[in-house]
Amino acid sequence: MSENQIRDIALAPTGHAKINWVKNHMPILNQLEKEFMASLPFRGKKVAICLHLEAKTAYLAKVVQAGGAEVAVAASNPLSTQDDVVAALVEDGITAFAWHGATTEEYTAHLNALANFKPDLFIDDGGDLTSLLHSQYPQYLANIIGGCEETTTGIIRLRSMANDGALKIPMIAVNDALSKYFFDNRYGTGQSVWDAIMRNTNLVVAGKTAVVIGYGWCGKGVAMRAKGLGAKVIVCEVDPIKSIEALMDGFQVMPMVEAAPLGDFFVTVTGNKAVISEEHFKVMKNKAIMANAGHFDVEIDKAALEKLANSHQETKPNIEGYQMNDGRILYLMGEGRLVNLACGDGHPAEIMDLTFALQALSLVYLLQHSDLPAAVHSVDKSIDHRVAQLKLTALDIAIDQLTEEQTIYLNSWQL
Ligand code: ADE
Repeated sequence: MSENQIRDIALAPTGHAKINWVKNHMPILNQLEKEFMASLPFRGKKVAICLHLEAKTAYLAKVVQAGGAEVAVAASNPLSTQDDVVAALVEDGITAFAWHGATTEEYTAHLNALANFKPDLFIDDGGDLTSLLHSQYPQYLANIIGGCEETTTGIIRLRSMANDGALKIPMIAVNDALSKYFFDNRYGTGQSVWDAIMRNTNLVVAGKTAVVIGYGWCGKGVAMRAKGLGAKVIVCEVDPIKSIEALMDGFQVMPMVEAAPLGDFFVTVTGNKAVISEEHFKVMKNKAIMANAGHFDVEIDKAALEKLANSHQETKPNIEGYQMNDGRILYLMGEGRLVNLACGDGHPAEIMDLTFALQALSLVYLLQHSDLPAAVHSVDKSIDHRVAQLKLTALDIAIDQLTEEQTIYLNSWQL
């Protein structure tokens, strides 16, 4: 067994408390845990998990372990790791390679350690583990049954790999399941981003201007919740269809260069690089606050910000102030990393319950379909529906069923 690489095992007690709290709010995973304990679907298998290492992820790792797996974890972002949660996992027999604030070298070493765990199955978030396994450890790929990918950014990378003929294992695109992006991307991101901004800034949102850059499912959630908090919302988009959607959802739409001088809060959610850049920093208001909610810390051009500023310092935890020559100060949250995880606890437990149930059941699916070709696969519809149904059952909500005549009517085509 590999040596754990963690901050401090003595932190475990608060980690256990956090995991127990979310466990009490994740009924779908509770149900799967019970089933897995009885059927042991992962018996004899090694499962690597590369996700944001906070309490909900920890509970997922424990559910997979309850299904008979040997589990190892590493972080998918150096700032989202909660050291007490990781310590609790280690106390519970899960191998961990992660600590909060890991340098790029340490983060890479942790990922390498996870690859060297030689998993049979894995879960990735953003594609770093998948990319590392393919580029540095091709000798391990033959033994890998498959993997699951959590996020939009990771799936974009997977499709690039597949297009280049570089993808050598089956990967399940968990992000693209309806029970994932309808809820996690929209309501999860919408709530957790504003939670992180508000708890760290302690400022009012009502009456201010919030600029949301990117109107995918995450951007829709961030804009919707900003409106709910009383902000005037501007959306910046490059896609004409999404731009019309934002307009009809009631938001102002304009190019970023026009929005830059108007915003009090800026949230990037595009998956692309430098969507806030030098030309925008130059015209932003004094005390504007910038946060990123996309997977990588590339959306806000930090290098350009540093170049423009005459100094910068931590104004308070999670908020860096950049002093401009003209006297303005611009604030960047969480070093431009995913604000909801770097400066908060990520999505609410009840939302991650859906996502992580999809992850757990997709791992079982991979085991049951070990002949899947090396490609990007959708989550099986039956899994998507089962997770949604389990959620309704947990909420004690009954819904109507089609009658036999209605089913026949929907399947008929003759005049
Ligand atoms: N918690 C664990 N993984 C997460 C994710 N991908 N997004 C938000 N919260 C999370």
